[in-house]
Formats: sequence, C-alpha cells, structure tokens
Amino acid sequence: MFGKKKQQPQIDAAQLELIEAAQKRIKQKKRLYAHFVLFLIGCVLIIVANTVLGIGENFTIAGINWFVYAILIWLFLFLYHLFNVFVTHKFMGKAWEKQQLEKLVAKQQTRIDALKEGFRKEETLKAKSEVFNEVQTPKNSNGNKATELTIIVAAAENNAIGLGNKLIWHLSDDLKRFKALTSGHHIIMGRKTFESFPKPLPNRTHVVITRQKDYQAPSGVIVVHSLEDAIDASKTDKQPFIIGGGQIYKQALAQNLVDKIELTRVHESFEADAFFPEINMALWEETNNVFNKKNADHQHEFSFLTYQRK
Ligand SMILES: NC(=O)c1ccc[n+]([C@@H]2O[C@H](COP(=O)([O-])OP(=O)(O)OC[C@H]3O[C@@H](n4cnc5c(N)ncnc54)[C@H](OP(=O)(O)O)[C@@H]3O)[C@@H](O)[C@H]2O)c1
Repeated sequence: MFGKKKQQPQIDAAQLELIEAAQKRIKQKKRLYAHFVLFLIGCVLIIVANTVLGIGENFTIAGINWFVYAILIWLFLFLYHLFNVFVTHKFMGKAWEKQQLEKLVAKQQTRIDALKEGFRKEETLKAKSEVFNEVQTPKNSNGNKATELTIIVAAAENNAIGLGNKLIWHLSDDLKRFKALTSGHHIIMGRKTFESFPKPLPNRTHVVITRQKDYQAPSGVIVVHSLEDAIDASKTDKQPFIIGGGQIYKQALAQNLVDKIELTRVHESFEADAFFPEINMALWEETNNVFNKKNADHQHEFSFLTYQRK
C-alpha cells in the first residue's frame, strides 16, 4: 500500500554536470598513464627482444636497427595521445572553468539576494515592533519602562462594578485608599464614569475618553478620543491610573497595556450593568492581599489585592 518513494537526486543539474566532467577527465588521464606504462614496458621488451634474444638482429633501415623505428612510431602514437588529452579534448580548460565560475557566481548572487531580502523583511518587522513598543511603553534613560500604568477598581465576586452609572456599595476605607493612591496622578476614565462624579476630583488630572468630538468638559479636564491618546496624554506621569469604567477596563486589559492592578474585591455578588473583566492569572501575579472585615462603616467584607504583570 505504501510503496517506496522514488529517491529524488540531492544535487542539482550544474553540480551533476561538474561531477560527470570530472569523472570523464579522470578516466582520460588514467588511460594516458596506462599507455605511458605500456609504452615503457614495450620499449624495454622490444630492446631486449632485439639485443638479447637477437630477434631481427640483422634487420636495419638506413643502417638503423628496426627496434629504433618501432620505438619512435610508438613514441609518436603516445605523444599524439598526450596531445589529445591535454590539448584537443581539454574540455575543462580555461573557457570551461570560466563558464563554471560564472555559473557559480550567478548562483551565489541569487542566494545573497534571497538572504538580503530575508534580512530586509526581518529588519522592517523589528523596526515596526520597536516603534510600536516605543509608543506603547515609553522608556527612561536606563531603558526601563518610565511609567507604570495601573488599573484601580473595586469589583464584587461576580465582577460587578456599577449599576445605573453609580457605584453599588459604599466602603469608606476603599475610597480613602483610592484617594491615597491616585492623588497627584493622572486618572484616565470613560465619559460615563466621569459623568458619574458630581464634580472633578481634587488634586488629580482627569483624562476623559469619548467618541464625541465636541464634548465639553470643565477647564483642566483633558478630553481625548481613544485609550492610546489618553495614555499618551499621561506620559509625563510615572503612575497614571485607569479608573474605569467597564468599557475602558476591558479595552486596557485586552490590549495588554496595563502593568499593575489595584483591586478591591468585595466578597459578595451584586446585580450590575457594568463589570470588570475576568483577570487572566496566567498573565498576573498576586503580590499583595489584605482582608478587611465587616464593621459599622463597612457593610461588606472586602480585600485589597495587588496584581503585577508577570
Ligand atoms: N467599581 C469601580 O471601581 C468603578 C470604577 C469606575 C466606574 N465604575 C462604574 O462603571 C460604570 C461606567 O462604566 P461603563 O463601562 O458603563 O462606561 P465607561 O467605561 O466609564 O465609559 C464609556 C464611554 O467611554 C467612551 N469610550 C469607550 N471606549 C472608547 C474608545 N475606544 N474611544 C473613544 N471613546 C470611548 C464612550 O464615550 P461616548 O459615549 O461619550 O463616546 C463610552 O460611552 C458606572 O456604573 C460607574 O459607577 C465603577
């Protein structure tokens, strides 16, 4: 059923031609060498036959013994053979060598061109990825990432974060932590989250993302039209915060733009219309976990969790 595959030659036509020519040449030279040996032995035998054994001892032409003529004729034949091998059939001569060299050079040139093309493509890809990384992750003078883009969020066990454009719970310690971490920094948010505040939060630079080109915001609030522009507008800050809501969290995590997550996990489930995305633990490492019990000021148990990108 599975017959043997026909073996394909591993060498190309030019190499094959070269090998066959070389083999032919070796045979020619071997034959010439055999002829030379035979000639030497023949000469010795002829001389011995004449001088020692006395064969044709008295046969001379123009006073010269016959074996001299015999050797001269054979010598002429040998020289003719020699001439044939080194002159007439010198198919591996200068012209042939030049031709082979040209073929080889042409072949190497093709390979060099292919390699150059490969390098050029690789360089273009590398340059593109470097430019991309430069845009996404500005570096400081040491080559380290200059900013630590951080998500800050409070999410329930079912990842609920908001309902009717409002927060679902009131946890004063969580609000204090939010204030402590974000004060003095840029806070990036979607238009809906911004509108959920009665007024801009003090001591923070608000960067609001909206698709509305004519969106009006109070002075000092930066309005942008994409998450990338929001990050760009915050690049002077060492730790800009993405503070929500659900749409902006989702985009930031999906695009792998975030370095750190400060999560307040509220240990209950709630009805909601805005949610935080599931954290992919293959990408994140929990570096801090502080549990908080219920008390007079806090109706729900909650934990402060910090995740750092692996
Ligand atoms: N628990 C928490 O920690 C927390 C934190 C923050 C917010 N929240 C809650 O989350 C809810 C709000 O979240 P949400 O998901 O509904 O809205 P959101 O993310 O705050 O804002 C959505 C808006 O952002 C703009 N936007 C989104 N993606 C954009 C893009 N790629 N380019 C340009 N503009 C873009 C659009 O504004 P336009 O429609 O103007 O174009 C969009 O309607 C509220 O209930 C809030 O209380 C909870």
